[in-house]
Amino acid sequence: MNPTLETIIQLTKELNYLNYQYYKKDIKEISDQAFDFKLKTLEQLERDNPSFVQPDSPTLRVGGFVSKKFKTVVHQTPMLSLSNTYSKQDLIDFDERIKKILDSSEFEYVCELKFDGLAISITYEDGKLLRAVTRGDGIKGDDITANVKTIKSMPLVLFGENWPKKLEVRGEIFLPLSSFEAINKKRLENNEPLLANPRNAASGTMKMQDSAIVAQRNMDCYIYGLLSDSNISNSHYESLKLMKNWGFNISNTYSKCSNIDEVMMYIESWSKKRSHLPLETDGVVIKVNDLRSQDKLGFTSKFPRWAISFKFESESVQTRLKGVTYQVGRTGTITPVANLEPITLAGTIVKRASLHNANEIVRLNLHENDLVALEKGGEIIPKVTHVNIEARRFDALPIEYIHECPECKTALIRIDGEANHYCPNERECPPQILGRISHFISRNALNIESLGIKTVQGLIQKKLVEDISDLYHLTFSQLNGLMFETTEEDKTKIITKEIC
Ligand code: IVH
Repeated sequence: MNPTLETIIQLTKELNYLNYQYYKKDIKEISDQAFDFKLKTLEQLERDNPSFVQPDSPTLRVGGFVSKKFKTVVHQTPMLSLSNTYSKQDLIDFDERIKKILDSSEFEYVCELKFDGLAISITYEDGKLLRAVTRGDGIKGDDITANVKTIKSMPLVLFGENWPKKLEVRGEIFLPLSSFEAINKKRLENNEPLLANPRNAASGTMKMQDSAIVAQRNMDCYIYGLLSDSNISNSHYESLKLMKNWGFNISNTYSKCSNIDEVMMYIESWSKKRSHLPLETDGVVIKVNDLRSQDKLGFTSKFPRWAISFKFESESVQTRLKGVTYQVGRTGTITPVANLEPITLAGTIVKRASLHNANEIVRLNLHENDLVALEKGGEIIPKVTHVNIEARRFDALPIEYIHECPECKTALIRIDGEANHYCPNERECPPQILGRISHFISRNALNIESLGIKTVQGLIQKKLVEDISDLYHLTFSQLNGLMFETTEEDKTKIITKEIC
C-alpha cells in the first residue's frame, strides 16, 4: 500500500479512537497538544492527497464538536463568544468605547462570573421545556434535550406568570466540584482513570448517549441569558430577576455596577471569593445592562460590543526540578514526569507534574535543577508553563530524553510525526502487563475483588503472570503469601500513570 495512504488510514483510526475515548468514555489518553498535532498532520496529508481522505476522517466534522450521534439543530440566534482579556487597561478601553457610542457615561453594567462548563441554549414553548442544544460551532449544535432534562435545577415547566409563549434561555452546564471529587474518589476505588477536570467532565457527560448515566452525575446549570421576540424586560438585570421567578437557577453572584471602578471592585472581590463557590469559574463577564443600549452597540463579526470577559490569571508558583522520571502506561506510552520540590498550589501540595512527551521538554528547554513555573487551571495535574532561565546555573545540563524503557530496558520507538515514545515490549514489560491486568480485573470488567494491584505486582515480579490467561492457571501455593492490600497511594500511582 502507498505509505502516505497507510499513514492517513492509521491517523484516521487513531484520532477516531481518541475522540471516542474522550467524548464517549471521558478518557483523555493524550494531551490536547499531542491530539492537535496529530489532527494537523492528518489535515496536511489530506490536503496534499485529497483522493486518500477516508470517509470517516475526523477532519470532516466542521467545527469539530458537532457529533453525529445527536440530531443537529441550527440555532435561531447564533451562539457567539465573548472577547477575552487579562488586562484591566482593556476594560478601561472597553468602557471608553461604550461611552463614545452611547454618547453618555450614565449607564450601568451587570457583572457576572464566567462559569466554566458547557454552553447550552434551551427553548421553552407554552412554558414547557422543548429543546436543549449545545453551542456546537456557534451556528448549529447537538440536541441533548434528554440529557438536559436530567438536571434537577432545570425547570421542565415554568413557574410564575408572564412568560412569553416562546422563549430561549442560555446558560452554562457544569459539574459541581463536590460531584467531580466524589466521582473521582469512586473511580480511584475502582482502578478507573480519573476525570481530568470538571469542564471536560461536564461536556463529556452531556454528550453521553445514556441519559441514565447523566442523571447519576448530579450536573447543574446556571442560566445567564434570555432571548425572546416579545419585549418582556428593559434590562439584563430585570431579565435575571424574571428568569429567577420563572424557576431558573441563577447564580446569586451577579451585581449591578454604575461605572468601571465598581466593575474593578467586583473583579477584585470575586478573584478571592470564587474559590469558595461550588464550581470552577475562570473570569468575570461584564455586560451593559440596558437592552436598548445593547442593541445600539450591536456586534462585531464575532463578539457582542456590549460585553467583554475579564479572565482571572491562573495561580502560578515556582519550584525546583529535582529530576525527570519516566512512566510506562498500559499501552506502552512513555510519559516523562517532573519530580519537584514540594510546593503548595491552589490549596494542594504538588510534588510532580506531567511533562507529556519529548516535545514538551524541548519546548520548555528544560535543564537539570531548573526553577520551573507551575499552574493549575482546573486540572488535577498541574502544568509546567515555563522555566525561569535567569535562575539557571551556568553549568546546568539539558534534560536528555531516555532511549530505553525505564522498566524493561527495551529500546524505545517513536513513530514519525508522533509526539510520544513507546516501549514495544508489550508482552514482557511489567507496567504494561500490570496495566492490562488491573484493567481486566477492575470493577467495570471482571470485578475480581479478591485480587488487588499489589498482588498482581507480586505475581508479575515472580514471573507467574505475563498475560491475563495466566491468572487462570495460578495455584494456591503460588498465591499464598502474595495477597496484599492495595493502598490508596498505590492506586493513585497506577491511575495517574494513565491520565498523565
Ligand atoms: S454571556 C455573546 N455570561 O462564555 C455571548 N457567557 O465566551 C454572551 N459563559 O460560550 C455570553 N459564563 O458559555 C455569558 N455569565 C456568563 C457566562 C458566559 C460563562 C461562557 C458561555 C459562552 C462563553 C463566551
